[in-house]
Amino acid sequence: MKIAVVGTGYVGLVTGTCFAETGNTVTCVDIDSTKVNKLTNGEITIYEPGLEKLFLRNLKEDRLHFTTDLAAGIKDASIIFLALPTPPGEDGSADLKYILGVASQLGTLLKTDDYKVIIDKSTVPVGTAEKVNAAILESAKKAGVNLTGAFDVVSNPEFLREGVAVDDFMKPDRVVIGTSSEKAKKLMGDLYAPFVRQGNPVIFMDERSAELTKYAANSFLATKISFMNEVARLCELLGADVDMVRRGVGSDDRIGKRFLFPGIGYGGSCFPKDVQALVKSSNEVKYDFKILNAVMEVNETQKLHLFPKIKNYFKGDLKGKHFALWGLAFKPNTDDIREAPALYMIDALTAEGATVTAFDPEAMNNVKKTIGDKITYAENQYAALQGADALIIATEWNEFRTPDFLKIVSTLKNKTIFDGRNLFEVSAIRELGFHYESIGRAP
Ligand code: UGA
Repeated sequence: MKIAVVGTGYVGLVTGTCFAETGNTVTCVDIDSTKVNKLTNGEITIYEPGLEKLFLRNLKEDRLHFTTDLAAGIKDASIIFLALPTPPGEDGSADLKYILGVASQLGTLLKTDDYKVIIDKSTVPVGTAEKVNAAILESAKKAGVNLTGAFDVVSNPEFLREGVAVDDFMKPDRVVIGTSSEKAKKLMGDLYAPFVRQGNPVIFMDERSAELTKYAANSFLATKISFMNEVARLCELLGADVDMVRRGVGSDDRIGKRFLFPGIGYGGSCFPKDVQALVKSSNEVKYDFKILNAVMEVNETQKLHLFPKIKNYFKGDLKGKHFALWGLAFKPNTDDIREAPALYMIDALTAEGATVTAFDPEAMNNVKKTIGDKITYAENQYAALQGADALIIATEWNEFRTPDFLKIVSTLKNKTIFDGRNLFEVSAIRELGFHYESIGRAP
Protein backbone atom coordinates (compact mmCIF):
# COMPACT_ATOMS: atom_id res chain seq x y z
CA MET A 1 0.00 0.00 0.00
CA LYS A 2 1.03 3.61 -0.41
CA ILE A 3 0.94 5.54 2.81
CA ALA A 4 1.57 9.14 3.81
CA VAL A 5 2.40 10.09 7.40
CA VAL A 6 2.02 13.77 8.20
CA GLY A 7 4.25 14.77 11.13
CA THR A 8 7.62 13.11 11.77
CA GLY A 9 7.70 13.44 15.53
CA TYR A 10 7.89 10.46 17.77
CA VAL A 11 4.71 8.69 16.74
CA GLY A 12 5.00 9.70 13.07
CA LEU A 13 8.52 8.42 12.59
CA VAL A 14 7.86 5.12 14.34
CA THR A 15 4.60 4.67 12.42
CA GLY A 16 6.18 5.49 9.05
CA THR A 17 9.19 3.26 9.62
CA CYS A 18 7.18 0.30 10.89
CA PHE A 19 4.69 0.43 8.00
CA ALA A 20 7.61 0.56 5.55
CA GLU A 21 9.04 -2.47 7.36
CA THR A 22 6.00 -4.56 6.34
CA GLY A 23 6.52 -3.69 2.68
CA ASN A 24 4.42 -0.57 2.26
CA THR A 25 5.78 2.53 0.51
CA VAL A 26 5.69 5.39 2.98
CA THR A 27 6.18 9.12 2.50
CA CYS A 28 6.58 11.15 5.67
CA VAL A 29 5.70 14.83 5.47
CA ASP A 30 6.93 17.53 7.84
CA ILE A 31 7.05 21.33 7.67
CA ASP A 32 10.49 21.32 9.32
CA SER A 33 12.92 21.25 6.37
CA THR A 34 15.99 20.72 8.58
CA LYS A 35 14.40 17.58 9.98
CA VAL A 36 13.33 16.37 6.55
CA ASN A 37 16.87 16.89 5.20
CA LYS A 38 18.41 15.02 8.09
CA LEU A 39 15.99 12.11 7.74
CA THR A 40 16.44 11.99 3.95
CA ASN A 41 20.19 11.77 4.54
CA GLY A 42 19.84 8.89 6.95
CA GLU A 43 20.20 10.84 10.17
CA ILE A 44 17.61 9.74 12.72
CA THR A 45 16.08 12.58 14.73
CA ILE A 46 14.85 10.76 17.84
CA TYR A 47 16.43 8.33 20.26
CA GLU A 48 14.53 5.06 20.26
CA PRO A 49 16.19 1.66 20.71
CA GLY A 50 15.93 -0.51 17.57
CA LEU A 51 14.40 2.18 15.35
CA GLU A 52 17.53 3.35 13.56
CA LYS A 53 18.27 -0.06 12.06
CA LEU A 54 14.76 -0.32 10.60
CA PHE A 55 14.80 3.29 9.48
CA LEU A 56 18.10 2.91 7.59
CA ARG A 57 17.11 -0.35 5.97
CA ASN A 58 13.81 0.96 4.66
CA LEU A 59 15.41 4.19 3.51
CA LYS A 60 17.99 2.18 1.60
CA GLU A 61 15.36 -0.08 0.08
CA ASP A 62 13.47 2.98 -1.09
CA ARG A 63 10.31 2.27 0.88
CA LEU A 64 10.68 5.31 3.15
CA HIS A 65 10.73 8.89 1.88
CA PHE A 66 10.60 12.34 3.43
CA THR A 67 9.30 15.61 2.08
CA THR A 68 8.09 19.05 3.17
CA ASP A 69 5.56 19.07 0.33
CA LEU A 70 2.16 17.89 1.56
CA ALA A 71 0.64 17.76 -1.93
CA ALA A 72 3.45 15.57 -3.29
CA GLY A 73 3.52 13.46 -0.13
CA ILE A 74 -0.14 12.47 -0.26
CA LYS A 75 -0.58 12.32 -4.05
CA ASP A 76 -0.27 8.55 -4.52
CA ALA A 77 -1.22 7.52 -0.99
CA SER A 78 -4.51 5.79 -0.29
CA ILE A 79 -3.95 6.14 3.44
CA ILE A 80 -2.90 9.36 5.17
CA PHE A 81 -1.90 9.28 8.82
CA LEU A 82 -2.00 12.49 10.84
CA ALA A 83 0.64 12.20 13.57
CA LEU A 84 0.75 15.82 14.61
CA PRO A 85 1.30 17.39 18.00
CA THR A 86 -1.66 18.16 20.25
CA PRO A 87 0.00 20.31 22.92
CA PRO A 88 -2.03 21.23 25.99
CA GLY A 89 -3.60 24.67 25.71
CA GLU A 90 -3.57 27.05 28.67
CA ASP A 91 -6.69 25.41 30.11
CA GLY A 92 -5.29 21.85 29.77
CA SER A 93 -7.37 20.87 26.74
CA ALA A 94 -5.61 19.44 23.67
CA ASP A 95 -4.90 22.12 21.08
CA LEU A 96 -6.01 20.88 17.66
CA LYS A 97 -4.60 23.71 15.54
CA TYR A 98 -1.98 21.57 13.78
CA ILE A 99 -4.38 18.74 12.99
CA LEU A 100 -7.18 20.99 11.78
CA GLY A 101 -4.68 23.10 9.82
CA VAL A 102 -3.53 20.06 7.86
CA ALA A 103 -7.15 18.91 7.48
CA SER A 104 -7.99 22.24 5.81
CA GLN A 105 -5.05 21.86 3.45
CA LEU A 106 -6.20 18.33 2.61
CA GLY A 107 -9.55 19.78 1.61
CA THR A 108 -7.85 21.61 -1.22
CA LEU A 109 -5.73 18.62 -2.26
CA LEU A 110 -8.08 15.62 -2.21
CA LYS A 111 -9.84 14.64 -5.44
CA THR A 112 -13.43 13.50 -5.85
CA ASP A 113 -12.37 10.37 -7.79
CA ASP A 114 -9.43 9.29 -5.66
CA TYR A 115 -10.73 7.79 -2.37
CA LYS A 116 -8.41 8.18 0.61
CA VAL A 117 -8.60 7.33 4.28
CA ILE A 118 -7.41 10.03 6.69
CA ILE A 119 -6.36 8.67 10.05
CA ASP A 120 -6.02 10.46 13.37
CA LYS A 121 -3.03 8.76 14.98
CA SER A 122 -2.35 11.47 17.56
CA THR A 123 -4.11 11.39 20.90
CA VAL A 124 -7.11 13.62 20.27
CA PRO A 125 -10.24 14.48 22.24
CA VAL A 126 -13.57 12.81 21.53
CA GLY A 127 -15.19 14.46 18.54
CA THR A 128 -11.94 15.25 16.68
CA ALA A 129 -12.63 12.84 13.79
CA GLU A 130 -15.85 14.78 13.17
CA LYS A 131 -13.95 18.08 13.29
CA VAL A 132 -11.31 16.81 10.85
CA ASN A 133 -14.06 15.61 8.54
CA ALA A 134 -15.80 18.99 8.72
CA ALA A 135 -12.56 20.94 8.18
CA ILE A 136 -11.76 18.95 5.03
CA LEU A 137 -15.28 19.33 3.61
CA GLU A 138 -15.39 23.02 4.50
CA SER A 139 -12.14 23.99 2.79
CA ALA A 140 -13.04 21.90 -0.28
CA LYS A 141 -16.41 23.63 -0.38
CA LYS A 142 -14.69 27.02 -0.36
CA ALA A 143 -12.75 25.86 -3.40
CA GLY A 144 -16.06 24.85 -5.02
CA VAL A 145 -15.51 21.08 -4.62
CA ASN A 146 -17.84 18.60 -2.95
CA LEU A 147 -15.67 15.89 -1.38
CA THR A 148 -18.51 13.93 0.22
CA GLY A 149 -17.74 10.22 -0.23
CA ALA A 150 -14.19 10.89 -1.46
CA PHE A 151 -12.61 10.19 1.91
CA ASP A 152 -13.23 8.81 5.39
CA VAL A 153 -11.73 9.97 8.65
CA VAL A 154 -10.70 7.14 10.97
CA SER A 155 -9.54 7.25 14.58
CA ASN A 156 -6.66 4.84 15.14
CA PRO A 157 -4.98 5.75 18.44
CA GLU A 158 -1.42 4.66 19.10
CA PHE A 159 -0.50 2.78 22.28
CA LEU A 160 3.29 2.56 21.91
CA ARG A 161 5.63 3.35 24.77
CA GLU A 162 8.83 5.32 24.36
CA GLY A 163 11.84 3.06 24.76
CA VAL A 164 10.03 -0.01 23.41
CA ALA A 165 8.16 1.72 20.60
CA VAL A 166 9.26 -0.56 17.77
CA ASP A 167 8.22 -3.70 19.62
CA ASP A 168 4.94 -2.14 20.72
CA PHE A 169 4.20 -1.10 17.14
CA MET A 170 5.24 -4.34 15.46
CA LYS A 171 3.51 -6.56 18.06
CA PRO A 172 0.66 -4.52 19.50
CA ASP A 173 -1.54 -5.93 22.31
CA ARG A 174 -4.43 -4.68 20.21
CA VAL A 175 -5.20 -2.32 17.37
CA VAL A 176 -8.13 0.02 17.88
CA ILE A 177 -9.86 1.32 14.76
CA GLY A 178 -12.72 3.76 14.99
CA THR A 179 -14.74 4.07 11.81
CA SER A 180 -18.29 3.80 10.63
CA SER A 181 -17.24 3.21 7.00
CA GLU A 182 -17.06 -0.36 5.66
CA LYS A 183 -14.60 0.73 2.96
CA ALA A 184 -12.21 2.23 5.51
CA LYS A 185 -12.64 -0.77 7.77
CA LYS A 186 -11.49 -3.14 5.01
CA LEU A 187 -8.45 -1.01 4.15
CA MET A 188 -7.39 -0.63 7.78
CA GLY A 189 -7.87 -4.34 8.47
CA ASP A 190 -5.59 -5.21 5.54
CA LEU A 191 -3.00 -2.66 6.60
CA TYR A 192 -2.71 -4.05 10.13
CA ALA A 193 -3.00 -7.77 9.25
CA PRO A 194 0.81 -8.35 9.31
CA PHE A 195 1.02 -6.87 12.81
CA VAL A 196 -1.58 -9.14 14.44
CA ARG A 197 -0.62 -12.51 13.01
CA GLN A 198 -0.27 -13.94 16.52
CA GLY A 199 -3.97 -13.36 16.99
CA ASN A 200 -4.01 -10.14 18.95
CA PRO A 201 -7.29 -8.36 18.25
CA VAL A 202 -8.07 -5.58 15.84
CA ILE A 203 -11.00 -3.96 17.59
CA PHE A 204 -13.36 -2.03 15.35
CA MET A 205 -15.61 0.56 16.92
CA ASP A 206 -17.06 3.98 16.22
CA GLU A 207 -14.80 7.03 16.03
CA ARG A 208 -15.80 8.54 19.39
CA SER A 209 -15.26 5.30 21.29
CA ALA A 210 -11.81 4.88 19.73
CA GLU A 211 -10.84 8.41 20.72
CA LEU A 212 -12.01 7.85 24.28
CA THR A 213 -10.29 4.44 24.48
CA LYS A 214 -6.89 6.09 24.20
CA TYR A 215 -7.53 8.61 26.98
CA ALA A 216 -9.17 6.00 29.19
CA ALA A 217 -6.20 3.61 28.75
CA ASN A 218 -3.56 6.20 29.63
CA SER A 219 -5.64 7.58 32.49
CA PHE A 220 -6.21 4.12 33.90
CA LEU A 221 -2.46 3.38 33.83
CA ALA A 222 -1.74 6.72 35.50
CA THR A 223 -4.37 5.85 38.11
CA LYS A 224 -2.69 2.50 38.77
CA ILE A 225 0.61 4.28 39.38
CA SER A 226 -0.83 7.00 41.61
CA PHE A 227 -2.76 4.36 43.54
CA MET A 228 0.44 2.43 44.22
CA ASN A 229 2.24 5.63 45.14
CA GLU A 230 -0.41 6.24 47.79
CA VAL A 231 -0.12 2.64 48.99
CA ALA A 232 3.64 3.26 49.25
CA ARG A 233 3.07 6.35 51.38
CA LEU A 234 0.81 4.32 53.63
CA CYS A 235 3.44 1.56 53.85
CA GLU A 236 5.90 4.11 55.20
CA LEU A 237 3.42 5.22 57.85
CA LEU A 238 2.31 1.70 58.82
CA GLY A 239 5.69 -0.02 58.66
CA ALA A 240 4.82 -2.25 55.68
CA ASP A 241 6.98 -2.98 52.62
CA VAL A 242 5.48 -1.84 49.33
CA ASP A 243 7.53 -4.38 47.36
CA MET A 244 5.77 -7.18 49.17
CA VAL A 245 2.37 -5.53 48.92
CA ARG A 246 2.92 -4.94 45.18
CA ARG A 247 3.71 -8.58 44.59
CA GLY A 248 0.81 -9.77 46.69
CA VAL A 249 -1.61 -7.47 44.93
CA GLY A 250 -0.27 -7.84 41.39
CA SER A 251 -0.43 -11.65 41.42
CA ASP A 252 -4.19 -11.35 41.12
CA ASP A 253 -4.80 -11.61 37.37
CA ARG A 254 -7.63 -9.13 37.67
CA ILE A 255 -5.12 -6.51 38.81
CA GLY A 256 -1.99 -7.59 36.93
CA LYS A 257 1.69 -7.17 37.75
CA ARG A 258 2.50 -4.29 35.43
CA PHE A 259 2.39 -0.57 36.19
CA LEU A 260 2.31 -1.14 39.92
CA PHE A 261 5.79 0.18 40.62
CA PRO A 262 5.80 3.09 43.04
CA GLY A 263 8.34 5.84 42.50
CA ILE A 264 8.67 9.59 42.30
CA GLY A 265 5.70 10.00 40.01
CA TYR A 266 4.87 9.47 36.36
CA GLY A 267 6.20 11.90 33.79
CA GLY A 268 6.63 12.06 30.03
CA SER A 269 4.64 13.70 27.31
CA CYS A 270 1.61 11.43 27.60
CA PHE A 271 0.23 10.60 31.04
CA PRO A 272 0.34 14.13 32.50
CA LYS A 273 -1.11 15.68 29.33
CA ASP A 274 -3.74 13.01 28.69
CA VAL A 275 -5.07 12.80 32.24
CA GLN A 276 -5.41 16.57 32.26
CA ALA A 277 -7.11 16.59 28.86
CA LEU A 278 -9.62 13.91 29.91
CA VAL A 279 -10.50 15.91 33.02
CA LYS A 280 -10.99 18.94 30.79
CA SER A 281 -13.17 17.02 28.32
CA SER A 282 -15.24 15.70 31.24
CA ASN A 283 -15.70 19.21 32.60
CA GLU A 284 -16.88 20.38 29.21
CA VAL A 285 -19.80 17.97 29.40
CA LYS A 286 -20.31 18.94 33.05
CA TYR A 287 -18.93 15.69 34.42
CA ASP A 288 -16.61 15.83 37.40
CA PHE A 289 -14.09 12.99 36.92
CA LYS A 290 -13.22 12.81 40.60
CA ILE A 291 -10.70 9.97 40.49
CA LEU A 292 -8.56 11.67 37.85
CA ASN A 293 -8.38 14.90 39.82
CA ALA A 294 -6.97 12.88 42.70
CA VAL A 295 -4.56 11.04 40.35
CA MET A 296 -3.10 14.37 39.22
CA GLU A 297 -2.86 15.71 42.75
CA VAL A 298 -1.10 12.59 44.02
CA ASN A 299 1.37 12.70 41.14
CA GLU A 300 2.24 16.34 41.72
CA THR A 301 3.16 15.68 45.34
CA GLN A 302 4.80 12.35 44.56
CA LYS A 303 7.44 14.02 42.40
CA LEU A 304 8.81 15.60 45.53
CA HIS A 305 8.13 12.74 47.93
CA LEU A 306 11.84 12.07 48.45
CA PHE A 307 12.70 15.68 49.05
CA PRO A 308 11.55 16.03 52.71
CA LYS A 309 13.39 12.80 53.48
CA ILE A 310 16.58 14.30 52.10
CA LYS A 311 16.02 17.55 53.96
CA ASN A 312 15.28 15.76 57.24
CA TYR A 313 18.40 13.66 56.91
CA PHE A 314 20.49 16.82 56.61
CA LYS A 315 18.66 18.37 59.59
CA GLY A 316 16.71 20.85 57.50
CA ASP A 317 19.75 22.58 56.00
CA LEU A 318 20.76 21.81 52.41
CA LYS A 319 22.79 24.97 51.89
CA GLY A 320 26.22 24.07 50.55
CA LYS A 321 25.35 20.37 50.29
CA HIS A 322 26.29 18.64 47.07
CA PHE A 323 24.28 15.82 45.47
CA ALA A 324 24.97 13.23 42.81
CA LEU A 325 21.88 12.60 40.70
CA TRP A 326 21.56 9.42 38.65
CA GLY A 327 18.91 9.70 35.95
CA LEU A 328 17.33 12.70 34.25
CA ALA A 329 15.03 11.16 31.62
CA PHE A 330 11.41 10.66 32.73
CA LYS A 331 12.00 6.92 32.38
CA PRO A 332 14.79 4.63 31.11
CA ASN A 333 15.64 4.06 27.42
CA THR A 334 14.65 7.51 26.29
CA ASP A 335 16.25 10.95 26.15
CA ASP A 336 12.85 12.53 26.83
CA ILE A 337 12.83 14.86 29.84
CA ARG A 338 9.30 16.20 29.53
CA GLU A 339 7.71 16.31 33.01
CA ALA A 340 10.70 14.34 34.31
CA PRO A 341 10.60 14.03 38.13
CA ALA A 342 14.41 14.60 38.16
CA LEU A 343 13.87 18.19 37.03
CA TYR A 344 11.50 18.87 39.93
CA MET A 345 14.10 17.40 42.27
CA ILE A 346 16.80 19.67 40.82
CA ASP A 347 14.58 22.73 41.32
CA ALA A 348 13.83 21.81 44.92
CA LEU A 349 17.48 21.11 45.80
CA THR A 350 18.95 24.19 44.15
CA ALA A 351 16.23 26.43 45.64
CA GLU A 352 17.58 25.42 49.06
CA GLY A 353 21.17 26.26 48.12
CA ALA A 354 22.37 22.76 47.26
CA THR A 355 24.40 21.89 44.16
CA VAL A 356 23.90 18.91 41.86
CA THR A 357 26.07 16.85 39.51
CA ALA A 358 23.99 14.62 37.28
CA PHE A 359 24.53 11.69 34.98
CA ASP A 360 22.08 10.19 32.50
CA PRO A 361 23.04 7.83 29.66
CA GLU A 362 20.92 9.65 27.05
CA ALA A 363 19.15 12.72 28.37
CA MET A 364 22.01 15.05 29.38
CA ASN A 365 22.02 17.03 26.14
CA ASN A 366 18.32 17.75 26.44
CA VAL A 367 18.75 18.88 30.04
CA LYS A 368 21.72 21.09 29.11
CA LYS A 369 19.52 22.77 26.51
CA THR A 370 16.79 23.37 29.09
CA ILE A 371 18.53 24.33 32.33
CA GLY A 372 22.13 24.78 31.17
CA ASP A 373 24.63 25.26 33.99
CA LYS A 374 22.11 25.20 36.80
CA ILE A 375 23.75 21.83 37.52
CA THR A 376 26.98 20.17 36.40
CA TYR A 377 27.12 17.05 34.27
CA ALA A 378 29.31 13.99 34.78
CA GLU A 379 30.91 11.75 32.19
CA ASN A 380 29.65 8.60 33.83
CA GLN A 381 27.64 7.49 36.82
CA TYR A 382 30.67 7.16 39.10
CA ALA A 383 32.19 10.52 38.18
CA ALA A 384 28.92 12.11 39.34
CA LEU A 385 29.59 10.86 42.87
CA GLN A 386 32.80 12.83 43.39
CA GLY A 387 32.54 14.99 46.52
CA ALA A 388 28.78 14.39 46.87
CA ASP A 389 27.08 14.25 50.26
CA ALA A 390 24.56 11.74 48.95
CA LEU A 391 23.40 9.94 45.82
CA ILE A 392 19.85 10.48 44.56
CA ILE A 393 18.36 8.09 41.98
CA ALA A 394 15.56 9.47 39.80
CA THR A 395 15.41 7.10 36.79
CA GLU A 396 15.69 3.31 36.77
CA TRP A 397 18.23 2.85 33.95
CA ASN A 398 19.41 -0.76 33.93
CA GLU A 399 23.03 0.25 34.43
CA PHE A 400 22.13 1.74 37.81
CA ARG A 401 20.65 -1.52 39.06
CA THR A 402 23.81 -3.44 39.95
CA PRO A 403 26.45 -0.76 40.38
CA ASP A 404 29.92 -1.23 41.81
CA PHE A 405 29.11 -0.45 45.44
CA LEU A 406 32.78 -0.38 46.41
CA LYS A 407 33.30 2.43 43.94
CA ILE A 408 30.27 4.24 45.34
CA VAL A 409 31.59 3.87 48.88
CA SER A 410 35.04 5.14 47.94
CA THR A 411 33.75 8.16 45.99
CA LEU A 412 30.71 9.44 47.91
CA LYS A 413 31.46 11.60 50.98
CA ASN A 414 28.71 9.89 52.99
CA LYS A 415 27.35 6.40 52.49
CA THR A 416 23.90 7.78 51.77
CA ILE A 417 21.47 6.95 48.96
CA PHE A 418 17.99 8.34 48.31
CA ASP A 419 16.34 6.09 45.77
CA GLY A 420 13.22 7.29 43.97
CA ARG A 421 12.88 4.05 41.99
CA ASN A 422 13.46 1.30 44.59
CA LEU A 423 16.40 -0.22 42.71
CA PHE A 424 18.08 -2.05 45.59
CA GLU A 425 17.15 -4.62 48.21
CA VAL A 426 16.88 -2.72 51.48
CA SER A 427 18.56 -5.44 53.58
CA ALA A 428 21.46 -5.94 51.15
CA ILE A 429 22.28 -2.28 50.93
CA ARG A 430 22.00 -1.86 54.68
CA GLU A 431 24.54 -4.65 55.11
CA LEU A 432 26.94 -2.59 53.02
CA GLY A 433 26.61 0.15 55.62
CA PHE A 434 24.56 2.63 53.59
CA HIS A 435 21.92 4.93 54.92
CA TYR A 436 19.28 4.11 52.31
CA GLU A 437 15.86 5.67 51.86
CA SER A 438 13.46 4.65 49.13
CA ILE A 439 9.73 4.70 48.40
CA GLY A 440 7.30 2.77 50.58
CA ARG A 441 9.96 0.75 52.39
CA ALA A 442 11.54 1.13 55.82
CA PRO A 443 14.67 3.32 55.83
C1 UGA B 1 2.50 5.86 27.74
C2 UGA B 1 1.66 4.58 27.61
O1 UGA B 1 2.24 3.53 28.38
C3 UGA B 1 1.58 4.13 26.14
O2 UGA B 1 0.73 2.99 26.03
C4 UGA B 1 1.02 5.29 25.31
O3 UGA B 1 0.95 4.96 23.94
C5 UGA B 1 1.90 6.51 25.47
O4 UGA B 1 1.95 6.87 26.88
C6 UGA B 1 1.32 7.62 24.66
O5 UGA B 1 0.20 8.06 24.96
O6 UGA B 1 1.90 8.00 23.64
P1 UGA B 1 5.13 6.44 27.82
O7 UGA B 1 4.69 7.81 28.23
O8 UGA B 1 6.12 6.26 26.74
O9 UGA B 1 3.84 5.57 27.35
O10 UGA B 1 5.74 5.76 29.10
P2 UGA B 1 5.35 4.63 30.15
O11 UGA B 1 6.28 3.49 30.02
O12 UGA B 1 3.91 4.32 30.12
O13 UGA B 1 5.69 5.39 31.52
C7 UGA B 1 5.01 6.58 31.91
C8 UGA B 1 5.45 7.02 33.26
O14 UGA B 1 4.94 6.17 34.29
C9 UGA B 1 6.96 7.07 33.48
O15 UGA B 1 7.28 8.27 34.14
C10 UGA B 1 7.25 5.88 34.37
O16 UGA B 1 8.38 6.05 35.18
C11 UGA B 1 5.98 5.83 35.19
N1 UGA B 1 5.70 4.50 35.75
C12 UGA B 1 5.40 3.46 34.94
C13 UGA B 1 5.70 4.32 37.13
O17 UGA B 1 5.96 5.27 37.91
N2 UGA B 1 5.41 3.08 37.62
C14 UGA B 1 5.11 2.04 36.83
O18 UGA B 1 4.84 0.92 37.38
C15 UGA B 1 5.12 2.22 35.45
